[in-house]
Amino acid sequence: MPSLTVIGSQWGDEGKGKLIDILAKQTDYVVRYQGGANAGHTLKVKEKKIIVHLVPSSVFHPEVTALISQGVVLDLESLCQEIQTLKEHGFLNRKKQILISDSCTLLLDHHKQLDQAREQKASKIGTTGKGIGPAYESRASRKALLFRDLFEEDKQLLDKLKKSTEESHFLLKNLYQIKPLSLEESFEKLKTYRKLLREYRFQNMSLFLNTALKKNKKVLFEGAQGTLLDLYHGTYPYVTSSSTLAGGLFSSCGLGPLIPMKSLAAMKAYTTRVGEGPFWTECTNTPEGKHLQEKGEEFGATTGRKRRCGWLDLVALKYAVRLNSSSSLAVMKLDVLSGLDEIKVCIAYKIGFQIFEDLPSSMKDVENVKPIYKTFKGWSEDISSVSSKKELPPSCLNYLNFISQSLNIPIDIISVGPSRFKTLYDSQNVLDKLWL
Ligand code: GDP
Ligand code: IMO
Ligand code: MG
Repeated sequence: MPSLTVIGSQWGDEGKGKLIDILAKQTDYVVRYQGGANAGHTLKVKEKKIIVHLVPSSVFHPEVTALISQGVVLDLESLCQEIQTLKEHGFLNRKKQILISDSCTLLLDHHKQLDQAREQKASKIGTTGKGIGPAYESRASRKALLFRDLFEEDKQLLDKLKKSTEESHFLLKNLYQIKPLSLEESFEKLKTYRKLLREYRFQNMSLFLNTALKKNKKVLFEGAQGTLLDLYHGTYPYVTSSSTLAGGLFSSCGLGPLIPMKSLAAMKAYTTRVGEGPFWTECTNTPEGKHLQEKGEEFGATTGRKRRCGWLDLVALKYAVRLNSSSSLAVMKLDVLSGLDEIKVCIAYKIGFQIFEDLPSSMKDVENVKPIYKTFKGWSEDISSVSSKKELPPSCLNYLNFISQSLNIPIDIISVGPSRFKTLYDSQNVLDKLWL
């Protein structure tokens, strides 16, 4: 039953896409299980760079079947565009290379309009504006259209569309003074998507995945966003609207909680965050913060926004390792730290006169966190061309050892550049051992 999930252990953009691309080789299935087109996962092989939002990050591996399970909110417009662009680049040519659960929630224009209106006129979370929150709200209030509804007779589909948009349209018009897309226009769009997406329909993903695992098929689960953006365990209310933790995959895919699973925690060698919300180790406006932003090319893969940058936060990472039962770490973007004289790592929080080694749960405490840092000597060498861990400068190895010891789990993968080939691991054996 070889199964593994790659989760983000910070605020997203840790490099999950690159890891999935590496691990998808010799995998049978790759499953996206939460979030939507708010995700932007970058894959780079030689000079070819692709950013996927809804399609799983296994596109460079035509032999791997990519599944989208029901916890995902499907932005039909974005999905159709993404599939078309990928096909134009020569990908997704195999029939049935993508399978989409019939029970996925549809994310439609009114969700995006509502998300954007709230950002502009109500509380600012700094969302991606992709309609994620409103789409999950529709699902929770049992008004959502599901992927399978798209394939009903016209009359039924129109009826369902009407019922599902009534309340959002009312809010858009009367609360936000925004003209919603007409029902007719929305319906016409749905009919176009129906034609384009019919071939990807898939029923009973739960049965399929359970059977696949029993037959010893290799299944790789692709997390989106990051632990600190989790709806229940993140820095609420500055979070996304889905469960971003490894645990979320079980309910999204219809797998029992005792299905054996391993979890690989993807982490950047420093920290970034996009959007509003607390970020205790932020140093965006310092020379070091600018170094991280510029050298790390820290711009959002979905919205193009500048990412906020800061030092590594071991308190938050310990929390992520615990919440995801992670047994292994992948340290990404280590090359970005080259050239800094000193590198800081947050090892505890001070709130008032007390020291904490875990995340505070009250918002008042969250606002008063002062990070306690340990400072490391940096290194000047460019490490983007090293081909083994042994070649890394001693101060770099010292930094990595400290991370691994503090979190009490091994660093099995080190990434020193965006390309698939700029990745260090001791042997294929290490990658094989990541799986259960
Ligand atoms: P994801 O959302 O977790 O898949 O991450 P993103 O794709 O949004 O952001 C990660 C960014 O870092 C992308 O532009 C990657 O190409 C890039 N990247 C990944 N690993 C490395 C690395 O080791 N070094 C550098 N310099 N860039 C990397
Ligand atoms: P990947 O999968 C980084 C952030 C947004 C905002 C908050 C809520 O590429 O790591 P939403 O649109 O989800 O309602 O926005 O969550 N956010 C991400 N930040 N990476 C992501 O995905 C993100 N998806 C959402 O910036 O702060
Ligand atoms: Mg991203």
